[in-house]
Amino acid sequence: MDEMVKNTVFGNVYAGKKVLVTGNTGFKGSWLTVWLLELGATVHGLSRDIPTQPALFDVLDLRQRITHHEADVRDTDAVQRIIADVQPDFVFHLAAQPIVSYSYDHPVETITTNVVGTTNVLEALRVQNRPCTAVVITSDKCYDNVEWLWGYRENDALGGKDIYSGSKGAAELMCKSYYHSFFAKDISRVRIATARAGNVIGGGDWARDRIVPDCMRAWSEGRSVVIRNPQATRPWQHVLEPLSGYLLLGQALYHEAELNGERFNFGPKAEHSYTVRELLESLSRHWHFTDPAAAYRSAGNIPFHEAGLLKLNCDKAFACLRWTPVLDYDTLIAFTGEWYYAYYRSHGAGGIDFYAFTVAQINRYEQSAIKQKHVWIHE
Ligand SMILES: NC(=O)c1ccc[n+]([C@@H]2O[C@H](COP(=O)([O-])OP(=O)(O)OC[C@H]3O[C@@H](n4cnc5c(N)ncnc54)[C@H](O)[C@@H]3O)[C@@H](O)[C@H]2O)c1
Repeated sequence: MDEMVKNTVFGNVYAGKKVLVTGNTGFKGSWLTVWLLELGATVHGLSRDIPTQPALFDVLDLRQRITHHEADVRDTDAVQRIIADVQPDFVFHLAAQPIVSYSYDHPVETITTNVVGTTNVLEALRVQNRPCTAVVITSDKCYDNVEWLWGYRENDALGGKDIYSGSKGAAELMCKSYYHSFFAKDISRVRIATARAGNVIGGGDWARDRIVPDCMRAWSEGRSVVIRNPQATRPWQHVLEPLSGYLLLGQALYHEAELNGERFNFGPKAEHSYTVRELLESLSRHWHFTDPAAAYRSAGNIPFHEAGLLKLNCDKAFACLRWTPVLDYDTLIAFTGEWYYAYYRSHGAGGIDFYAFTVAQINRYEQSAIKQKHVWIHE
């Protein structure tokens, strides 16, 4: 491609804007930060901690590239102070306790972080009442999973049998209440929308009890990974897919008042539903396993309730935003496998600039989107 050609990405809406990303030290937050920096935004982060060791936030040296605020979203005053100081044009709220298994051991922490934390962000935006476009990231697990075959639509019932899922359903309800009570009113200068996506994979996730990080840790130590349920089918999606949805939603919400208070699903292509076993076999090829069966073994017991297949219907995202996923299954596996393989192969030896490596994957993603004529990008 001609290097002189400058792409228009998300209508350049983020260039020169102040964007606050909560949960910026996490997996999705780090990828989102890189993309926003590449789009020309001034990024502020708000997180309680760096949730893993290693962490993408550290690997990419993001602390040096943004203004990072260390705070707990459960601290109402701290959240209000930071939002008042930053005066963000956009907020992407991702800070959360995101692990289902952890929510069984720490239900109150999960609920206060995910529900009260979200409420604190909404409240800080309300009291400040400056023009701000906020996208609140919840989860596909916010739906009452009745284990049916069909995709869940944005107007299906909220629910959640486990604490994490319930907390995400409750966060959605808080957004709805704040919208109807405050942000829908003429005097409000705040616009909000919620975004629901599911399991994402991609380079640089080290959270516990997630299949890809568990697998990469094991393979990097020469072990086979122990998996709970090899036949479980999940709709796999690369992290850049929902992020393109969040950024497109932010752009659209910024320009169109009628999207205020709306919620959107950003799910994978239906044909990307593969079993855990199939996923590991595809990933193992990027780790040069001669026998894919040597890459994993089955644990045989499931220690807590895990919901079955949950599909998202993304007709609304297509109808209102013209959003669809970009990557085919092989490319999403290649992006993920290549990133971790490069990381573990180079570990300690230096030599690879992982910020540049990550930006290169974002650029490849954008190039695929241009070829497919996605509305959010053009030359
Ligand atoms: N990764 C997925 O597959 C997935 C799927 C669906 C939804 N989500 C949602 O996306 C968001 C980001 O997920 P992730 O995978 O990047 O998670 P992560 O665990 O990698 O990051 C979580 C972030 O939240 C911050 N955080 C946690 N508790 C906090 C608190 N009390 N105060 C301030 N910050 C706090 C952490 O410091 C970190 O920055 C979450 O809202 C999660 O529920 C993720």
